Amino acid sequence: MAKPCRLVKPNHLMKPVSATRVSGRYLSHQQGLPHLPVPPLQQTCERYVAALEPIVEEEELQRTRELMQDFQRAGGVGERLQRGLEKRARRTENWLSEWWVQLAYLEYRLPVVVHSSPGLVLPRMNFSDKQGQISFAAKLIAGVLDFKTMIDNETLPVEFLGGKSLCMSQYYEVLSSCRIPGLKRDSVVNHAKGSPPPRHITVVHNFQFFALDVYGGDGVPLTVEQLRVQLERICSSSSSPPQSADDVEPVGILTTQHRDSWGKAYLNLVKDKTNRESVSIIQRSIFALCLDGAMPRVSDEMIRSSAAVQMLHGGGSEWNSANRWFDKTLQFIVGEDGTCGANYEHAPAEGPPIVALIDHVVEYTRKLETETPPSSLPLPNPQKLHFNITPEVKRDIEEAKQSMNILAEDLDVRVVVFGHFGKSVPKSHKMSPDAFIQMALQLAYYRMYQRCCATYESASLRMFRLGRTDTIRSASAASAAFVKAFDDAGRQNTEKVDLMERAVHAHRSYTNMAISGQAIDRHLLGLKMQAVDEQLSTPRIFRDAAYAKALHYQLSTSQVPSQTDCVMCFGPVVPDGYGVCYNPMSDHINFSVSAFNACEETDAARLARTLEESLLDMRTLLDQTPRAKL
Ligand code: COA
Repeated sequence: MAKPCRLVKPNHLMKPVSATRVSGRYLSHQQGLPHLPVPPLQQTCERYVAALEPIVEEEELQRTRELMQDFQRAGGVGERLQRGLEKRARRTENWLSEWWVQLAYLEYRLPVVVHSSPGLVLPRMNFSDKQGQISFAAKLIAGVLDFKTMIDNETLPVEFLGGKSLCMSQYYEVLSSCRIPGLKRDSVVNHAKGSPPPRHITVVHNFQFFALDVYGGDGVPLTVEQLRVQLERICSSSSSPPQSADDVEPVGILTTQHRDSWGKAYLNLVKDKTNRESVSIIQRSIFALCLDGAMPRVSDEMIRSSAAVQMLHGGGSEWNSANRWFDKTLQFIVGEDGTCGANYEHAPAEGPPIVALIDHVVEYTRKLETETPPSSLPLPNPQKLHFNITPEVKRDIEEAKQSMNILAEDLDVRVVVFGHFGKSVPKSHKMSPDAFIQMALQLAYYRMYQRCCATYESASLRMFRLGRTDTIRSASAASAAFVKAFDDAGRQNTEKVDLMERAVHAHRSYTNMAISGQAIDRHLLGLKMQAVDEQLSTPRIFRDAAYAKALHYQLSTSQVPSQTDCVMCFGPVVPDGYGVCYNPMSDHINFSVSAFNACEETDAARLARTLEESLLDMRTLLDQTPRAKL
């Protein structure tokens, strides 16, 4: 049976933050981590063909087998590329991470909004007016600064997966950093180690931007009460009517654009000195806080889904999409009605470090009920960031509004709380909860389309230095056998349970293989990139129709667990696909499901419903079928 290998997060919630810097601790931890291995060539070739089985036709599979044989023959191109890759692995800290960040993020030209940056929906907080919004936001800032102290002091507890310590570098990349658009490729700048390091955050209110110093002159973080006073000043100075016509121009909407368009618009914007300075202040800030206006009214049933929309893209130009700087790595979003959450730019980090930070912040805001006495020292006014809107910039803003509104119209997001059971049920049946949920997703998709599709689940590579992710391919021969049998009245329940167990175990084995650096997708990508590096023509296996099918992920999924009862959400990665994110808690599971309205075949609400039914049917089958003692 596949052995579980779970991620262990140290329980550092609300532990007193050490004020003492442990200089060099981070580096010495990092240096002790193993390098990402390059898997054996033959192993990847065999596993790739096996992974194609449930998603391509027999004829296509046969052709791929032949191409693979040629690719891996002695003295062939595969061997040459493998040698090149192994050499690269010897001379770099991580043979993959730089390529990955470039390809998956910085050279990916669709808008970061919906297509790349995830949103995070937190539970609705206990306030429903402007005062409540401001007070909560002040606590939230204090919570982030508390977490930041652990980062600054290098006292962040190390996380573990399967008994092995994890790379912690992503934690050092999420604060004080920002993506910068380019004409063909973006970049990310991190100001955390600048001298002096940033001491301000960006606050956005009514589409207007402010720099707020969050440390006093003595370098000590402002108290919650001081932060509250400063936020009040910001809100009263940016409530309508605006000071000048330029102040109503929603410049933030520019960051929602296609990256090539934003790259061009950026050059227009920063031609002006004032604009350049304002943009630079935003980029250097520790994080952004978006104090949102209203969102469209929805039924109670749709409140969480509406919050997901708010966190993912802000609802369109008439609502909150311009109340953001989407290039900022971390944006906290707080509405007036108790809605809150975050949006993060994906290039520097995956969801788990962001969620660990947010878990800490939520816990901090909960415990911090006592009001600190107001400080007598007067604080400088927060700095309003001005923009000069030239006709060119105005035109770019109008274009960005239009594109954003089309995207907002197109995206359907459903957040569902599956309340019938959580992780404890699969565990009681000795099954990995993650694998159980993934098999329920396979079943739901099969029930809707009578076929299997290429499915992506992210697996952490953080056991290795600078590790990011690899792909767990959830559609396997075992999952296909399971979903095809499940609704077949001619099959015995014992046989169905047996197929379910095989499918769940196959998934957990794939997970173990992926987190130990032996999965196929990043290796294949590496071989392809090595060919580019060596200026060789693209090997035929990568021009094969089956390869395109293998990468057309109609189900793009991810588990992002947390201590807080929240859920992350993201858009589909193909026009006819779904984005599914889930947070399995012990007695319930939070899901988000997204799809594009423009695609007639997809339907987020229907997949969410079918997924719930599949989970329930799988449990019923297990409960009703006597099994040999486990
Ligand atoms: N019997 C009983 N319990 C089992 C079990 C079994 N056969 N298999 C697993 N479990 C338990 C685990 O011990 C764990 O227990 P816990 O709740 O006490 O922690 C729990 O079930 C969860 O394990 P599982 O469901 O198998 O998942 P996981 O926690 O190992 O996570 C991945 C699997 C793939 C999500 C994880 O390895 C990973 O890579 N996470 C990062 C993903 C990522 O980066 N996402 C973000 C992209 S933006």
